[in-house]
Amino acid sequence: MKKTIQNVAFGILITCILTSCSNNGTNKNESSDSTNTNTTTTAMKTGLQQADWGEFDGKKVYLYTLTNKNGAQVKISNYGGTITSWVTPDSKGNKSSIVLGFNELKGYLAHPPYFGATVGRYGNRIAKGRFTLNGKTYKLAVNNNSNALHGGLKGFDKVVWDAAASEENTPSLTLNYLSKDGEEGYPGNLKVSVTFSLSDADELKIEYNAQTDKATPVNLTNHSYFNLTGDVNNTILNHSLMIDAGRYTPVDTSLIPTGELKSVKGSPFDFTTPHKIGERIAQVPGGYDHNFVLNKKGTNLDKVAEVTDSISGRKLEVYTTQPGLQFYSGNFLDGTLKTDDGKPIMQHAALCLETQHFPDSPNEPSFPSTILKPGEKYHTETMYKISVK
Ligand code: GLA
Repeated sequence: MKKTIQNVAFGILITCILTSCSNNGTNKNESSDSTNTNTTTTAMKTGLQQADWGEFDGKKVYLYTLTNKNGAQVKISNYGGTITSWVTPDSKGNKSSIVLGFNELKGYLAHPPYFGATVGRYGNRIAKGRFTLNGKTYKLAVNNNSNALHGGLKGFDKVVWDAAASEENTPSLTLNYLSKDGEEGYPGNLKVSVTFSLSDADELKIEYNAQTDKATPVNLTNHSYFNLTGDVNNTILNHSLMIDAGRYTPVDTSLIPTGELKSVKGSPFDFTTPHKIGERIAQVPGGYDHNFVLNKKGTNLDKVAEVTDSISGRKLEVYTTQPGLQFYSGNFLDGTLKTDDGKPIMQHAALCLETQHFPDSPNEPSFPSTILKPGEKYHTETMYKISVK
């Protein structure tokens, strides 16, 4: 584990040193990000900056900017542990954000479908919003037809987290949240901490830690929507995707796994070699919204997926310690939401690669267990790495 500073005040002090205690840095950078010029590089300070971003639930909301030596910038809010932008250059050096997001908190308070959010206590679906554990049946908040999705009505994506620590070497941000016993129907007080760090190799690493005082299902993930062209006017159907998974979990009409681990061979789910997303999507009713059973063994941080885009020359690699990956092709995006510059976010404007345990695991004994018990330490890692050709 890397060195972290567990003291809030000291964390803020470091932030102040890195920002020369200026509060307006983020807003300035915000406007320069969208101009797509290189002037941002000169004005940019590496490290971590903090800016006021409003208030929610009586708590202060901040927007943090992580800047590495190359001038790549990731912005994260303590509202929902949300990645709001990730600005990187394309092959011609033009900068734009490769994730969907908004410049202002109000965009998120309108509940976009988990844009960039930290998702929990249980990412993905739990059938009928119920499960039985140690002889007791728990009823969860149901928010997706008859199922519980992404933690319920007010999941981890809709709460204000405490920013607790920062780190000097690699710009990083740790967010903490206490999910109380009974929240959204889940048992046990769950202490969650998520650390985001941006390396000089353009790797955004997300580390999830949790502990509980009662046995509970836990499945934490990040719900960033990627469009490597940096422009939602281009769909992701021309992005090429590789997923190192020989099997996937077929689903019923409400997107709950049937329990089968099905071979991808000969099907539109075979991404073991790269395929354009649009190539076979018409054969998948509703589009891709499926959990892939990763080939990786064990819990090392292994590469599991790669996306490339010929327009921008960008490449995204996904590494994880997790056994599953939900590939969602932005099927429910329908143009209702607009980007800050007014472009409608249409179907397939972006894709998600959510590293996770399999959906509905609490009701599927044959799937790897998602139950965290008192005394155990939940720890998973996922890393997104961006590069250009
Ligand atoms: C996940 C789910 C999708 C959808 C999106 C959010 O990826 O699997 O079905 O709910 O989140 O819209």
